[in-house]
Amino acid sequence: MTRRGFLRGIVRWGGILIAAVPFVAFVTSRRNRPPREVRIQKEIRPGGHVVESDFVLFETGSGPLAVSRRCTHLGCTLQYRDAEKAFLCPCHGSRFAWDGKYLAGPAKKDLVCYEVKALADSGGFVVLVPRGGP
Ligand code: FES
Repeated sequence: MTRRGFLRGIVRWGGILIAAVPFVAFVTSRRNRPPREVRIQKEIRPGGHVVESDFVLFETGSGPLAVSRRCTHLGCTLQYRDAEKAFLCPCHGSRFAWDGKYLAGPAKKDLVCYEVKALADSGGFVVLVPRGGP
């Protein structure tokens, strides 16, 4: 290997490494970010629900269940229809049961459910919504 070839190799691989550092930092920072905490300061009667912008929180009688409103097909925001106990997608017509189970349409996958913590002191809830996730 000539001296010139050696120096070209250092410049080439050094450039690739320098370009990769911000990309790797961006990807790892998104993964390691803690979830967003959404506080619901309401008591929900068993069988009731609260519609939020990112999810619908149900009180099932055996505990709270937060179901994402993001369609698993292409990510449109779902509408919750209480009369049908179902989520409907306005974009391509996918349908999901109230608990997020896939029923029909192009989506094919169930909706994501988020972790919910009950607030013992106020009777409310905290829903942990992943950042940049489903
Ligand atoms: Fe919901 Fe296509 S985005 S069915």
